[in-house]
Amino acid sequence: MEITVRVNGEQVVRDVEPRLLLTHFLRDELRLTGTHWGCDTTNCGACVVRLDGSPVKSCTVLAVMADGASVDTVEGLAHGAELDPVQEGFVTCHGLQCGFCTPGMLMTSRALLDRDPDPSPQAIREAISGQVCRCTGYENIVRAVRWAAEKETAEETAEKEASKEEVTP
Ligand code: FES
Ligand code: FES
Repeated sequence: MEITVRVNGEQVVRDVEPRLLLTHFLRDELRLTGTHWGCDTTNCGACVVRLDGSPVKSCTVLAVMADGASVDTVEGLAHGAELDPVQEGFVTCHGLQCGFCTPGMLMTSRALLDRDPDPSPQAIREAISGQVCRCTGYENIVRAVRWAAEKETAEETAEKEASKEEVTP
């Protein structure tokens, strides 16, 4: 079956088997191996990508279900050399060790901040409750997401102040 998917902003057309999982479509067909494949049973969250903005476990979604949709993977998170604040937060707050869970954590956290720019630590814990980290414990991950939220809020405030100054004669 032919599918058309916008992956990280670029349109991709492929002929796929109807049973092909989105994880395998991304990893094997498109070589986007940043999306990890862990449990294959919807438990670990390593495979999370965004489908039309919402985080989904791509081991539970068929590639054909993404036909006509947008898929964002961890490869599309940074803008050139500039890391997304969530990525920066993970680096700054030591939110990873082996990194296996990290792509899924990043994609889920990005989706959280897009719908709630100032989440409480409890809201962050709830958002990532479908993700398993085997290495770090979750304290630094929660700190990393809070760090990103605070950075984005500070940047937004600075932008608003700057635009106010521009319009004030
Ligand atoms: S590989 Fe998809 S949830 Fe574990
Ligand atoms: S950093 Fe190793 S599984 Fe999370």
